[in-house]
Amino acid sequence: MSSRPAAMEVLRQEHANMTLLLDLFECQVAALRQQEDADFVLIGGIVDYFLTYPDLMHHPKEDILFHRLQELDPAAATKAEGLVSGHEALGLLARSLARAMVDHLLQETDESRLWLCSLGQDFIDKNRHHMAGEEQNFFPAALRTLSEDDWAVLGGKISMREDPLFGDLVESRFQSLHQFLADRQEVTALKC
Ligand SMILES: [Fe+2]
Repeated sequence: MSSRPAAMEVLRQEHANMTLLLDLFECQVAALRQQEDADFVLIGGIVDYFLTYPDLMHHPKEDILFHRLQELDPAAATKAEGLVSGHEALGLLARSLARAMVDHLLQETDESRLWLCSLGQDFIDKNRHHMAGEEQNFFPAALRTLSEDDWAVLGGKISMREDPLFGDLVESRFQSLHQFLADRQEVTALKC
């Protein structure tokens, strides 16, 4: 496989991984909204993952591709306008979500529960919308425009850090979530 599809494959796989976690998180938000038991080990693992990997590794990788696209074809880059600011907004939202989760664990009030549900659904919707936009506009533009040399340089950076949940070495703090996913027979069609 050339460096170009390999690098893009990493980003697409990361989107698939995030989509899986968002589906799982949405099930937990629905349970919490209906005052059913929610699994805060899973919720905590999902929130921790979004703070750790998408925010600190996935988005920066897309940012460097986007900046290269801007250099090579500014007109094509305008179709993905808002990508970098979108990443910043999602990072802030992830931190707000983490705070709302901790507040609810400490307070356990209806107000804290409903705020966590509201922020959680907003987080899910905005991440889905953002990834769909990248796959429709940004990824195809990057594939059309960047050269093999660009992909060789940027591709090395894109695969430089192991995913702590979906990679070969699972970090201890993600073991519960990893095991939950592994126990599912069809993780690609996760049901509540
Ligand atoms: Fe992305």
